[in-house]
Amino acid sequence: MLGNFDYHNPTKLYFGEDSLNYLNEELPKYGKNVQLIYGGGSVKKNGIYDSVMEILKKNGKEVFEDGGVMPNPTIEKLREGIRIARENKVDLLIAMGGGSCCDYAKAVSVSVNCDEDPWDKYFIRFEEPQCEIIPVGCILTMAGTGSEMNGGSVITNHEAKLKIGHVFGDNVMPKFSILNPKFTFSLPKRQMVAGIYDIFNHICEQYFSGDDDNTSDYLSEALMKSVVNSSLKAIEDQENYEARSNIMWTATWALNTLIAKGKTTDWMVHMLGQAVGAYTDATHGMTLAAVSLPYYRYIMPYGIAKFARFAKEVWNVNGEGKSDKEIAEEGLAAMEKWMKKIGVTLKISELGVTEDMIEGIAKATIILDGGYKVLTFDEVVKILKESM
Ligand code: NZQ
Ligand code: ZN
Repeated sequence: MLGNFDYHNPTKLYFGEDSLNYLNEELPKYGKNVQLIYGGGSVKKNGIYDSVMEILKKNGKEVFEDGGVMPNPTIEKLREGIRIARENKVDLLIAMGGGSCCDYAKAVSVSVNCDEDPWDKYFIRFEEPQCEIIPVGCILTMAGTGSEMNGGSVITNHEAKLKIGHVFGDNVMPKFSILNPKFTFSLPKRQMVAGIYDIFNHICEQYFSGDDDNTSDYLSEALMKSVVNSSLKAIEDQENYEARSNIMWTATWALNTLIAKGKTTDWMVHMLGQAVGAYTDATHGMTLAAVSLPYYRYIMPYGIAKFARFAKEVWNVNGEGKSDKEIAEEGLAAMEKWMKKIGVTLKISELGVTEDMIEGIAKATIILDGGYKVLTFDEVVKILKESM
């Protein structure tokens, strides 16, 4: 563990079947006006909306609805959310949904009291908020992004063909999050699987960097084993509470800053996936899955010892008498087999990418330098072509 870091996570979590009751404990801490953020309507179908509304009313809150947050929330929708918050002088933003609603709530929270344009300030110039921040609470209905316990907020600008994430500091993280695994039961299987791959890849992004002996890597291996194990049960029976609760808890720990401690971290699969998302609006987890194998096979030689360790520790590859290269290749083959079994998309062409988009997607890919290989533009193009 060679890095220097600080660690503090201010989000209070309530986990389990009874967790929504604890909303009664949180609400009295905030003012009367609540902006209730939700997506395209799943919370109305599965009854979560009614349960939350009842608790808000019982606690004497004035509720201002902000529904229709789309997957991959847009800058236009963000401007609408800021307007609702300003007009109604809201004291608390409650996001009820998946990562899109939680991310969106954070973007609203840092923009309400800020005069500058939020896209330019936070997603182009990557500045930090200087204004007063409206507190956010999350009621999570989809496990994957970790947005319930981190400062991440990803916004899409279709006009500019850009999808960009800003990781805000502790002050923007949700003040509380309610995690009831049963709330995820109504997710369509494709969304559940996309979330599972998102979790797995968040861990990979942090794991595949550095070569010191680091406690974060041992934590990562345990989390990867748990998500693989539970994913196989969840695809057989989506209402397996034990599996779904492990998946939900793993998602939170996969991206709440802990396993990044002491690491430079890679994040290139996300940069590629986000650029694909900017062009196709495809489901986040699927964009990651579709670029992962070509990317990891390409960078493997530059981080061969870590890929061999990944094979042995996560995929139980027997390394006896084999070279690191052979072990590493077996590990990625086992990962591919698992990806096929759970049913993620393995080609960007299946997500709507056409040959003529490749150049633009490559240009929209932000190149980071924390992993085993800093990619050139031509290498990005090559990986995207191999992902077709
Ligand atoms: O909109 P509704 O009707 O609610 O339907 C949603 C949506 O269509 C549906 N859904 C969610 N919970 C459900 C449900 N349907 C039935 N039953 C339920 N219980 O699922 C669909 C996808 O929801 P969404 O919130 O978009 O998914 P996810 O949680 O994967 O969030 C994706 C967004 O998060 C960003 C992504 O880029 C993307 O914009 N990310 C945020 C991160 C962060 N904050 O750290 C990191 C991630 O890497 C990611 O980039
Ligand atoms: Zn992700």
